[in-house]
Amino acid sequence: MFITIEGIDGCGKSTQSKRLSEWLEGRTHVKTIRTYEPYSFREFILSSRGISPMSELLLFLADRAEHLKRIILPELNEGHNVICERYNDSTLAYQCGGHGLNLSYVKNIIASCKFPEPDVKILLEINPELAYSRVLERHNSQDKFESEGLSLMKRVSDCYLNLEGYIVIHCSDMKEDEVFAKIKLELEKRL
Ligand code: TMP
Repeated sequence: MFITIEGIDGCGKSTQSKRLSEWLEGRTHVKTIRTYEPYSFREFILSSRGISPMSELLLFLADRAEHLKRIILPELNEGHNVICERYNDSTLAYQCGGHGLNLSYVKNIIASCKFPEPDVKILLEINPELAYSRVLERHNSQDKFESEGLSLMKRVSDCYLNLEGYIVIHCSDMKEDEVFAKIKLELEKRL
């Protein structure tokens, strides 16, 4: 299975991805690896300031192509499960919703890249104010995207909610265990 976990910064992706990978490996008896994007050019991308949204788009797509080649596809070809924090929908939500690129234009570019579609996409939906306060607590120095603040997170969040094909988990009022229980329930239906 190829599973992606999406959501704004501070929504709990890493926590849930860790729990999910441990559970899924036990449940399916199939090796399960966790990964994330940006991956291959992470430091370069997150430290680039003042670049155009189009450059950002192309960097994230290049990052994804390398990530697929080096990590995701070899693991899937071995028959392993892959859980990836962020994928195509992060590009739509951040570069379009957040930074103003045209959504259908970017959808077409992504489609022409022919990146494989995930089997399951999970969206952790959370109140942007809550997520933003978590981000501020977590970091001393913010990376490029986090430093753009709450208004960016609101636009990104709205864009995520307009995308399709997800299991959406509304996490604002839920504890970590409750969120995970919901994810497990939804995945059980698909196993
Ligand atoms: P994170 O991996 O710590 O969540 O941070 C990655 C940042 O990069 C996050 O703010 C979202 C942003 N991002 C994009 O803008 N577009 C993308 O396609 C991806 C994968 C991430």
